[in-house]
Amino acid sequence: MRTDTAKSFYLKDYRAPDYLARTVDLRFVLHPEQSEVTATVSYERRKGADGDAPLVLDGDGLELVSASLDGKPLAGDRYSATPDRFTLASPPQRFTLKTVTRVNPGANTALSGLYLSGGNYCTQCEAEGFRRITYFTDRPDVMAVYSVRLEADAKQTPLLLSNGNPGRKGKLAGGRHFAEWHDPHPKPSYLFALVAGDLGSIHRAYVTSEGRKVKLGIHVQKGKENQAGYAMDALVRSMRWDEEVFGCAYDLDVFNIVAVPDFNMGAMENKGLNIFNDKYVLASPETATDTDYARIEGIVAHEYFHNWTGNRITCRDWFQLCLKEGLTVYRDQEFSADMRSRAVKRIEDVSLLRAHQFPEDAGPLAHPVRPDRYREINNFYTATVYEKGAELVRMIATLLGPDVFMKGMRRYLSKHDGEAATIEQFIACFEAVSKRDLSRFFLWYTQAGTPVLHVATHYDRSRKTFAVDIEQSQAPTPGQARKKPLHMPLAVGLVGSVSKQDLKAEKVTGAEDQGGIFELSQRRQKITFHGIDEKPVLSINRGFSAPVEIDYRHLDRELGLLAAHDSDLFMRWQSFRLFASRQIFAAMRSLARRKKPVWKKEFLDAAVKIAENGDLEPAFRAMALTLPSETELARLLGRNINPDAIYKARRALSNAVGEQLEPLRETITETLDLPDRFEPSGADAGKRELANRLLAYGVHADSETAEAALVEKFRAATNMTDREFAFRLILQEMQGTPAAEDAVTRFHERYRDDPIVLDKWFAAQAAVSGRGAVATCRKLVADDAFNWTNPNRVRSVIGTFSSGNPTGFNRADGAGYRFIIDAIRKLDAINPQVAARLLTAFRSWRMLEPERRKQAQSALRRLKKGRKLSRDSSEILDRMLS
Ligand code: ARG
Ligand code: ZN
Repeated sequence: MRTDTAKSFYLKDYRAPDYLARTVDLRFVLHPEQSEVTATVSYERRKGADGDAPLVLDGDGLELVSASLDGKPLAGDRYSATPDRFTLASPPQRFTLKTVTRVNPGANTALSGLYLSGGNYCTQCEAEGFRRITYFTDRPDVMAVYSVRLEADAKQTPLLLSNGNPGRKGKLAGGRHFAEWHDPHPKPSYLFALVAGDLGSIHRAYVTSEGRKVKLGIHVQKGKENQAGYAMDALVRSMRWDEEVFGCAYDLDVFNIVAVPDFNMGAMENKGLNIFNDKYVLASPETATDTDYARIEGIVAHEYFHNWTGNRITCRDWFQLCLKEGLTVYRDQEFSADMRSRAVKRIEDVSLLRAHQFPEDAGPLAHPVRPDRYREINNFYTATVYEKGAELVRMIATLLGPDVFMKGMRRYLSKHDGEAATIEQFIACFEAVSKRDLSRFFLWYTQAGTPVLHVATHYDRSRKTFAVDIEQSQAPTPGQARKKPLHMPLAVGLVGSVSKQDLKAEKVTGAEDQGGIFELSQRRQKITFHGIDEKPVLSINRGFSAPVEIDYRHLDRELGLLAAHDSDLFMRWQSFRLFASRQIFAAMRSLARRKKPVWKKEFLDAAVKIAENGDLEPAFRAMALTLPSETELARLLGRNINPDAIYKARRALSNAVGEQLEPLRETITETLDLPDRFEPSGADAGKRELANRLLAYGVHADSETAEAALVEKFRAATNMTDREFAFRLILQEMQGTPAAEDAVTRFHERYRDDPIVLDKWFAAQAAVSGRGAVATCRKLVADDAFNWTNPNRVRSVIGTFSSGNPTGFNRADGAGYRFIIDAIRKLDAINPQVAARLLTAFRSWRMLEPERRKQAQSALRRLKKGRKLSRDSSEILDRMLS
């Protein structure tokens, strides 16, 4: 474990490496407690580097067995080796260094480097895990050609995988065997991977658009091969899509995916050998929900797409992380939009951005999409780098238009192939093909915070003009007090208040009209629409063309109109949602004065209209009818948050909407014509979702028939979407009844041997809101099946409670905070990355009402005072407290 936890790294300090590695030869003699790693690396001094620069290699907790230079053992005075550094004084211009280190995979609970998962050896090297395996220049701008030889017990580990193409394999003495792999594509160390174990495999043949024959393999826990088919299907569709849309074809003879049960994140794009958290590979109708299927499809695509955006072109340094992540998220979003419904996908992506990135950007953990400093890079695999990073790529595509954007992409992919690149180089490609200056746009990468557009409008009936006045503002974020105005595309439309149709302007002044898209780049801009015959309703930021907040006071009536008639589906969803939030906020004010909430008839009518509208996709209707989450409402309120008050008001609105919808539930559900056979298509998923949403409303409205239907649904469900939905709703709405207890028992009996589904059992209980949640979670972590070393299990209880149960976590007496702080302290010693991630649940603590704020602060301070934390957790903690 590194002890220097306070040191910061700065982008401005970047220096090219003194030595470049050309070839890396790795030999692993695998053993559960004592694996021996022999690394033979040819290094070369970089042109321009200082002639007597020492070679300094990174390590992390390593034990050196021996070292030799150009075939001769190294004299002790030539080098020094500590657990986290190997230094060789004045090496020649070109040389080969051979080191032997010993590591203990069985004791590696941090799941970074070489570890055992489910009895199998696997690795995770991004960001800085390779240095936990061997001494190396562990930085992405050192790219080398790797050859790997694995030796292990033949019986326990029949499958031996690494990057690239397979080479020789054979038997060894003592019941052992070996396999060799060679990866011809130069790569940084973070993309190295090995897997050795006993797994069940499925295979498929694929021929690329260039005619290359590829053998695809997915390797999962034995006996689960029949749950890998959907991931394989998603992989094949991703490969085809990337050829067709981006012109990117696969470049090796094999492509392997391995699913492991213990994994810190979602998955990892190691060259030719992707390693996945098994919950993002395994699926069957009995075990996976529609959401799980969609996620598997998206993550399989994401990791595969990294082969070009990430692997062929990698990052110069970790500050450039969004170069591969933002771009690859954009690509996987586009893929899913093509596979499913584009409008629905856009709404989902924006919801995710608002739920995770906006709060990050509004609190103490705010950082630019390209950060300029970090203490622990693993803390920067954030919604800002990934999701906001994807929005920036999307804005470039909108600003330049699809053709010029693709031209820029092609330029980037060919010009920088084989390189470790920067955001500057990426943007320069788009400047070159568009002949435009994107320097103001570049600020999106360096300025943190969500910009707000303050909008005022004026309709002049006699002149027939509609003026839209827009002023950009950005609140200060840590380390950035003042901000410059940004360059962004803004999609604006006008909807006639009488005709309820898009109005066409004779001309527009103040900004160029590019098919309804206008470019902003100054602090204040005024766009005037001429020839507007009727009073318009402003439809602004259609399709969420820019990742900003809009500050504009629509009348409720106008929101109702947009919700029903906007030609942009995203705006319909958005307007109804805003309308719903206003109802909830009004109810909070009433309830605070001990008055019964009153609901606007217009709002309830709009809900009914959406539910009934057969012209709209069921998935869209379901999403529109989902009230803003408690967390989202808290974010919109922004200050003095009392989660109990939010919960009550939201629940009251749900009850009121339910009373409207319940009489229609059965009729609407029938028109959906729910399929008998489960197919994981987006269309079918939408039908199930709408039916379930309506059922939830019925239950919220205390309808006895709905309750009976719910219990029956749980009993007779033929797929996990329906079963999990019913399970969660029963636990929440029938708390303390025999029906709820019975559901807990039955779900457990049925799935206790399937860890991925058992996680749903844990999570559903941890999500039940209210005071009792802390006691429930204490019970859950004491369960025999709970396990602090498995991140999925930990997240199912600790993560669900702290991020998905606002009333439980934010209990007024602070018991929820104390429970989580204790859990984090315990976890930090086992797996710092996961502990630090869970700690971010406190990121919005300053927005709480005073009593809870005090409780949260004292819990955080207690964590700071106790035993020294990992670099990961202490960085997050210090940023949150400063
Ligand atoms: N590059 C991976 C992905 O986006 C994420 C791996 C990050 N892992 C980590 N320990 N920081 O798909
Ligand atoms: Zn990624």
